[in-house]
Amino acid sequence: MPVSVIILAAGQGTRMNSDLPKVLHALGAAPLLHHAMRAAQALDPERTIVVAGHGADLVSKAAKAFDPDVQIVLQTEQRGTGHAVQQAAPLLDGVAGDTIVLYGDTPFVRPETLDRLRQARARHAVVVLGFSAQDPDRYGRLLTAGEDLTRIVEYKDASAEERAITLCNSGVICAETSLLLDLVSGLGTANAAGEFYLTDVVALARDRGLSAGVVICDEAETLGINTRAQLARAEAAFQTAMRAEALANGVTLTAPDTVFFALDTHIGRDAIIAPNVVFGPGVTVESGAVIHAFCHLEGCHVSRGASVGPFARLRPGAELAEDVHVGNFVELKNAVLDEGVKVGHLTYLGDAHVGEHANIGAGTVTCNFDGVTKHHTEIGARTFIGSDTMLVAPVSIGAGAMTAAGSVITADVPAQALALARARQVNKPGLAARLMERLRTIKAAKGQGR
Ligand code: UD1
Ligand code: CA
Repeated sequence: MPVSVIILAAGQGTRMNSDLPKVLHALGAAPLLHHAMRAAQALDPERTIVVAGHGADLVSKAAKAFDPDVQIVLQTEQRGTGHAVQQAAPLLDGVAGDTIVLYGDTPFVRPETLDRLRQARARHAVVVLGFSAQDPDRYGRLLTAGEDLTRIVEYKDASAEERAITLCNSGVICAETSLLLDLVSGLGTANAAGEFYLTDVVALARDRGLSAGVVICDEAETLGINTRAQLARAEAAFQTAMRAEALANGVTLTAPDTVFFALDTHIGRDAIIAPNVVFGPGVTVESGAVIHAFCHLEGCHVSRGASVGPFARLRPGAELAEDVHVGNFVELKNAVLDEGVKVGHLTYLGDAHVGEHANIGAGTVTCNFDGVTKHHTEIGARTFIGSDTMLVAPVSIGAGAMTAAGSVITADVPAQALALARARQVNKPGLAARLMERLRTIKAAKGQGR
């Protein structure tokens, strides 16, 4: 049975106290919205529709960055969850199969749970994902009779007796697409909030003699983000889950609680991650690589046998081939390091390619930016770049060449050549002693002998 997904993401998220639309706040270095889209993607949906409202341009851009095929509909006025689903109707007209509604601010719903929801559709026309709430607070309450869901009552509309119910609505709902669209078109606003409640489709379905059911999931899965405090707690929960997953996948984490992952971090089996390592988005670390303590990595690829850090920063476009060694206080950006390259200390390589087995001395800098444009540096295979070499790009060092320590290289160096680009040394015999004596005399004359 084909399935489509509608992700509701129009709300402002007033309680975040932010200019940024709520669904764009980051969890695991990815917008909240991407988490919901990932759960949707796992279902291999026919259509994925994001309902955007507040900050629609930004939300739309973020959604398309995750999935270029996503469709965006605008809900200019937020008149309720049912109204939001109504906006998606034109895009689902005539599309066969079921539709699942998700929330953009609810990042932990698992694909397995959505599968259970779909399976329950064999027994019910409408299936709602529910959970037993520790603190039911202001959630919608699920009214049941045996296996059947009879009605959802919103907190604002609930009687004291109904408020005592702890079985709550997660917001996730699944129904046959044409039925869902039909039901939402019949919603009204005669309720405490004066909104079109999506939750009312349950009663509307029952009125037609159709059945509704509940699938129960863990409360942690339905956690919605409304405040920064909840976002921080969600981040902690996300990191805990990612650490457990990495350990289960055969990754060594010396101090798991100090390692931070992004939603899309990939780490191979038998990789070793030392304490205090932060992964931003887009990192792949292959099997057997070692990331030493205090490294920050984003948008980069570390191959087998490579070793990084301690205290290294790998920025987007850093590509480390096998057995590359990147040591302390090294920053790499848009830099491709071929097999066996060594960059041991205190170096910046940006917009560069380094050929295999090159050795980059301490303090080397690719001067890649002239204030207006970025330029490329080409460093050939088996070169030896002397310590404190400034490579003023665009510039190219031929294979097997050397640069003298302290050189400022502004012109290409031919293969096998030694480039010396620094002032020649002059020694003045005895001058240091004489100079020192003179300085001491001056100081004493000023009466500052301490
Ligand atoms: C909703 C449910 C409630 C459930 C709770 C779970 C309804 C009427 N109530 O309540 O039963 O327990 O979620 O968290 O559905 N949104 C739009 N457009 C709108 C309104 C909302 O896109 O016009 C989006 C919001 O951005 C958010 C989601 O829908 O992502 C839920 O909206 P919210 O206002 O938080 O619903 P609740 O009142 O929490
Ligand atoms: Ca909410």
